[in-house]
Amino acid sequence: MTRQNPDIEYKVEPLGTSHDRVAFSSGVAALDAYIQRQARQDLERNLAAVFVLTSDGKTIAGFYTLSAHSIQATDLPEELAKRLPRFPLLVTLLGRMAISQSLQGRHLGVFLLIDALARAWRGSQQVASWAVVVDAKAGARDFYLKHDFAPLPSQPDRLFLPMKTIEKLFAS
Ligand SMILES: CC(C)(COP(=O)(O)OP(=O)(O)OC[C@H]1O[C@@H](n2cnc3c(N)ncnc32)[C@H](O)[C@@H]1OP(=O)(O)O)[C@@H](O)C(=O)NCCC(=O)NCCS
Repeated sequence: MTRQNPDIEYKVEPLGTSHDRVAFSSGVAALDAYIQRQARQDLERNLAAVFVLTSDGKTIAGFYTLSAHSIQATDLPEELAKRLPRFPLLVTLLGRMAISQSLQGRHLGVFLLIDALARAWRGSQQVASWAVVVDAKAGARDFYLKHDFAPLPSQPDRLFLPMKTIEKLFAS
C-alpha cells in the first residue's frame, strides 16, 4: 500500500539495513529502544516480522511488528468463548506499533494499522489465525478501541479484532 500525504508518498516495507533505526523517535522510550536495538535481532531470529513506513527508503516514519501467538478461548468474552474450542487459538500479535512523534496526528497511524491488518489477513489465508491481538501501551488503548478492537475481559490492555471482521474489510 502507499499513502499520499498529500505531497509525500509513504510506503510500508520490511525493515532492512538501509533504514535509519537510530533516528526514530515516537516519544515512547520502550518503543524507540525496540526499533533501535532489538528489532533487527528479532527479525534475524524469526521472532517478529518488522515493517516500516517510509517515504524515502531510509527515514522511518513508523513501524509495526507481527508474530504468531496464541490465546485461550476462555480469555475471550463468554459469548464468543462458548462457540470456540478449548485448545489455544492461534492469533497474529501486533506486538509493537509506533509513528514518529513529529508525524503523529496525520492519520499515518491508522494507515499503518490498516496495512498491518491487511497483512495479517493475507497471512491467515495461508496459516489460519483467529484474530489480531495487540497489547496496548502508553495511552494508545483508545486508538485501538476507536478502530474496533475489543478488550479481553481477563486482560483489559490486551485487545483483539477477529479475523472474520478484518476479512470483511479486505475480501472482495
Ligand atoms: C498511537 C499512534 C500509533 C497513533 O498514530 P497517529 O498517526 O498519531 O494517529 P492517527 O492520526 O492515525 O489517528 C487516527 C484516529 O485515531 C485517533 N487517535 C490517535 N491516537 C489516539 C489515542 N492515543 N487515543 C485515542 N484516539 C487516538 C485520532 O484522533 C484519529 O481520529 P479521527 O479519525 O477521528 O481523526 C501514535 O500516536 C504513536 O505512535 N504513539 C506513541 C507510541 C504508541 O503509543 N504506540 C502504540 C503502542 S501499543
